Amino acid sequence: MKVVLGVSGGIAAYKACELLRLFTESGHEVRVVPTREALKFVGAPTWAALSGNPVSAEVWDDVHEVPHVRIGKQADLVVVAPATADVLAKAAHGLAGDLLTNTLLTATCPVVFAPAMHTEMWQHPATRANVATLRERGAIVIDPAVGRLTGADTGPGRLPDPAEIFQVCLRVLRGRPRDLAERKIVVSAGGTREAIDPVRYLGNRSSGLQGYALARTALARGAEVTLVAANVALPDPAGATVVRVESAAQMREAVLAASDDADVVVMAAAVADFRPAARHEAKIKKTDAEPEPIRLVKNPDILAELGRRRQARDAALRAGEADGAALGGGRPLPHSDGSIRTELGPGSEAYPLVIVGFAAETHDVLANGQAKLARKGCDLLVVNRVGEGLAFGTPDNAATVLVAGAEPVEVPLGPKEDVADAVWDLVAARLG
Ligand code: CTP
Repeated sequence: MKVVLGVSGGIAAYKACELLRLFTESGHEVRVVPTREALKFVGAPTWAALSGNPVSAEVWDDVHEVPHVRIGKQADLVVVAPATADVLAKAAHGLAGDLLTNTLLTATCPVVFAPAMHTEMWQHPATRANVATLRERGAIVIDPAVGRLTGADTGPGRLPDPAEIFQVCLRVLRGRPRDLAERKIVVSAGGTREAIDPVRYLGNRSSGLQGYALARTALARGAEVTLVAANVALPDPAGATVVRVESAAQMREAVLAASDDADVVVMAAAVADFRPAARHEAKIKKTDAEPEPIRLVKNPDILAELGRRRQARDAALRAGEADGAALGGGRPLPHSDGSIRTELGPGSEAYPLVIVGFAAETHDVLANGQAKLARKGCDLLVVNRVGEGLAFGTPDNAATVLVAGAEPVEVPLGPKEDVADAVWDLVAARLG
């Protein structure tokens, strides 16, 4: 595989030599693209000798070969290690003042950043925002290790061990399996808003990050994705059909419509359980009188409705079999007893094969989750512990995936893509 090793100007640049060796010794063709600043730490002859390839930080060398476009376009992977705060900022903003930043703009392959910097720089809101931007665009930004930094200081900011970076790169190079190819998947994301009057609503803290990660990873695994997004301020995942909704009622309509011919429905959205009984047509004005209490009524439970519909479908199928009715030539359906049978004939409604719910719990997380899995009739339930800054609005998540009829799967704290991939692994196994 063709790997571009970008090296930016941090003291950890010397550790990139080890990373380079790991790549070359495992048979990869590596082109090192250092920044001018990186060359102050480790010189071009070292990179050239270790990689066996020419080395330049400039777009002005070998111009006839158009290196600022060619190197990025030909790469199977670009890894920037160490990635300084400066190079992360330039990449996030699309600056292109040297060969490495040009390469980052022209690369169509996966890009991995391994940041290394002082803790203050890593934790600065500017760096956090740049990292978030890069991750939203699909780049993999590895969290730096915690430990001794250049001076006497310690904290998050250390370059992860080159062997660890290498492992991440190998996983990326191997790519995601295309095990959801031709599957129709519906993912709901975000949080619904229930109108009180034209300017006010009841809402929740869901950012939509987990649902969007599910959509992006499903697309990467070959699925056709409809993303039903409630009040999410994130860029549309490339290739998804995005349906925007606001309230629980609108989400129900959109999810049920999209799930008619879906193979999988994942309800990652935080759907409001209640809505105001009446929506005031005009803005409620402040008066001297005490405000009227807002009476709430229950919203439909979309996930439970999907579960009930499937149950009804299964019952109809069993009745049809008992009657000896001819079954249509539809797709094979896995059933709760593990058997694979054929869908009801033409004209019958098709319901999702695999139903996945999410549960945000603050206490008795597993017990509440197990009860919810049974109550809502889904196949998988992803249980998150929320509160105290966990899960909502953060790029990372840890979860337990409860599986109907099997042992739960723990997903350790990591990017929300990891939780998404764990869900898709289980879904793909269920789909066979
Ligand atoms: N959900 C839904 N429709 C609703 C409420 C929730 O489809 N009206 C879905 C969510 O998208 C999520 C799952 O149900 O996948 C769990 O929602 P949660 O609010 O945790 O479940 P509840 O049954 O409301 O339980 P709780 O008593 O914890 O509120």
